[in-house]
Parts: sequence; structure tokens; C-alpha cells
Amino acid sequence: MDKIIIQGGNNRLVGTVQIEGAKNAVLPLLAATVLASKGKTILTNVPVLSDVFTMNNVVRGLNTTVDFNQDEHEIVVDASQDITEEAPYKYVSKMRASIVVLGPILARNGHAKVSMPGGCTIGSRPIDLHLKGLEAMGAEITQTAGYIEAKADKLHGAHIYMDFPSVGATQNIMMAATLAEGTTVIENAAREPEIVDLAVLLNKMGAKIRGAGTETLTILGVKELTGTKHSVVQDRIEAGTFMVAAAMTGGDVLIQDAIWEHNRPLLAKLQEMGVSVTEEEEGIRIQSDLSRLKAVSVKTLPHPGFPTDMQAQFTALMTVVRGESTMIETVFENRFQHLEEMRRMGLHSEIMRDTARIVGGQKLQGAEVMSTDLRASAALILTGLIASGETKVSKLEHLDRGYYLFHEKLAALGANIKRVKEDDDE
Ligand code: UD1
Repeated sequence: MDKIIIQGGNNRLVGTVQIEGAKNAVLPLLAATVLASKGKTILTNVPVLSDVFTMNNVVRGLNTTVDFNQDEHEIVVDASQDITEEAPYKYVSKMRASIVVLGPILARNGHAKVSMPGGCTIGSRPIDLHLKGLEAMGAEITQTAGYIEAKADKLHGAHIYMDFPSVGATQNIMMAATLAEGTTVIENAAREPEIVDLAVLLNKMGAKIRGAGTETLTILGVKELTGTKHSVVQDRIEAGTFMVAAAMTGGDVLIQDAIWEHNRPLLAKLQEMGVSVTEEEEGIRIQSDLSRLKAVSVKTLPHPGFPTDMQAQFTALMTVVRGESTMIETVFENRFQHLEEMRRMGLHSEIMRDTARIVGGQKLQGAEVMSTDLRASAALILTGLIASGETKVSKLEHLDRGYYLFHEKLAALGANIKRVKEDDDE
């Protein structure tokens, strides 16, 4: 497996960086293509990521054809044949997000059998809310031998209150409801931009969804959905990662095509810290003077709160800001593993349950560190930019799930970074 090697300490980032389509949008969009019993669905602005290959395999395994033109960043799915009901362990185990095929397969077939998901090791991540929602719509759910089986001759509309605004559960229930009989109302629904993007695609396919982006979604079931063309929304987490990279290196970077509204909670915290953020025609510009930055407290929350997917990267930024910063992680337990790795670089932090206190402004030294999950991998690479000496980051399979050409984009902004095969790193 590859490693990323960074020569740290002198990596002020300057220039323009282009953002890809969002990983967390394209995965449920691919699941939604299964609902189209007529025509082909064309997704454009698709990021070239290992999670996308995995989801393509999950969807292909359901007796669809999936053509991914990587040069064009375009996927064409034809699900017009009868689809099969089983999403096997081989692919689902690789990626937790594949559970979002459960709702579409069930709605289309009346029967779905999906392997229990795997994915990032950031907490227990149950799927009870997905299942409760489908049950409320008339599905009979059983769990055996590592598989979840759902059956319903015809799903019916239901009034569902979600105990927590789970992103995946909202997506699963919303997709199932598009073909149910009658109206489904989801209260306390997730409001992430990726939910809105999914609703936009489904409505283009013929669904009748109102309220996406608010806490109440209303879905009027229709008889069938038809393929369409849709461009994947920009990746706010990739954009946010480059914003943090610019801020922590005292840089000046234009994040091309970043959407202000989608990054509002992060931008507010950057401003509070003393980073200059400007909305420009082509995107968002980040300018940072390290000597002026001050410590802040951050708490992760469902959207429109501060995203848990930016938590690790933001703690990396906290390390360069003098004083004590606090990060409270309320969405996932066990999502501070990157801080344990950063300790190997000399970081002083204290973790008490969901709260991390970070003493910033100390000299960090490069070290060999290991990615523990997707966003942790980005956080460790960013920390390598500001630590003195050499940092080697391994286990890049996590990085490749969610960042396209990450090291090349950083290098183009002036970072001293390269990617090597493990054996070549001496
Ligand atoms: C999605 C994102 C992930 C992000 C997360 C929160 C994708 C592919 N992944 O994951 O990057 O970190 O949203 O913004 O879009 N929960 C339950 N029961 C359930 C479902 C969830 O208790 O049935 C809990 C989880 O354990 C977790 C919290 O709810 O503590 C958030 O999970 P959820 O919003 O479902 O995240 P994902 O959809 O898995």
C-alpha cells in the first residue's frame, strides 16, 4: 500500500483548488438509480473515489448495467430490467453507506436482502432508525446470518418521527417512500445538502418530494420512476478540508466552486478564529495570518450545525492556534482516534468522553502515523504540513475513499508532499 510523505514546516498554500462532486451525495444517488424501471440515469460531476467503485459494484450486482466513464466523471445506470433483491456481503461489507440500497430495492421489488454494513470504525453506527422507518411503512424486517431482510408486498405511506436526524435513515426512508402507496411524512429529517441533492434527482425521476432541506419531508408515492440526468452537488467536506489547510498554513487559497451556504457552520468558526473568508464569483477565498488566530470552541451537530466530517481536520487547525481550543463531538462516539496519532507528533490534547481539549501553538515534529478513518487521514496529512521534519502517513485506503488526488492538489498549492509505494519510501 502507498504512503504519503510530507516535508513539513514550510508549506504556505497559495493558489486555486478545484473541488469534486460530493462522495456523500453520489453514493445515495447511485442507490436511487435502482428505482428507475424505465430509461437510463446519467450522473455527471462524479468523483473518482474507491467508495464510488464499491457502490457501482453493489448496484451492478442487482442486475443493472453501470458504466463509469472516469475521464468524463460520468456514470450511466440502466436499471430497466428486473432487479435482483440481494446486495451481497462482498461489497456491502466494504462500505457502510451501501445500506441505502435497502429502501430502493424493497420499494422496487417488495423484497430486499442486504448484508449488514461495514465502513469507518467511528463508533457503533446502528441502523435501527432505517429499519423503524421501513417497518412503519409496512415492511416486515428480519435479521439473520449477517443479512437484513425486508418484505412488503406494497409499502404504504406513514408518519415517521426520527429520534435523531440520521442522514442514511432519511435517505433510505425517502427513497422507499417514492414508490409507496399514499403519503409519507418524515419529521426531524436530516437537512444536509446531500439530502437535498437526492430529492432533486428523485423529483427529476418523477417522484413527488417536498421540504428537502427542512426538518419535515413529505413524499407522495408514485407508480414508477424514470431515468434522468443529474449533476452531483459539490463536495462541501473536500472544500472544507482545503479551507482548513489554507487557514493552518497561513495561506491564501481560492476554493473553486465551494458553496457558501453549504459551508456556513465551518466558515463561521473560521471567522471567529480570525481567518478571512470571502465569497467570490468562482468560489470561497481563505486568507490566514497565523499570528492573529485565536482559540475557539466547536461542537459537532447534524446540519446546519458544524459537520462531524470536518471535526478531525478542524482539530488539526486547532494545533497551530495559540491557547486552548475545545472540540465536542456529539454525532459519533470514538471519533478522536486521529488525536492519539497526533500525539506521536508531540500534540498535547486531553480527551474526556465527547470532549477534546487541544493546547495549540506548540512545536509539532513529523512522525510516522497511520490513518484510522477517512477524515482522520486528511487531518494527519494537514498536520504533517505544519510539523517540522518528515511525516509519513500510511493506510491510505481510508483517504482514497473520499479524496481525489489529494496530495496532487496540495502539491499544486505549494506543499512539499509526495505519494510513494510503501517499498520505495526509503
Ligand atoms: C452520513 C455520512 C457521514 C457523516 C454522517 C453524519 C454518508 C455516506 N455518510 O453517515 O460521512 O459523518 O452522515 O453527518 O453520507 N444512528 C443511529 N441509528 C440509525 C442511524 C444512525 O443511532 O439508524 C446514529 C449513528 O450511530 C450516529 C448518528 O446517528 O451516531 C449519525 O449517523 P447518520 O446521520 O445516520 O450517519 P450516516 O448516514 O451513517
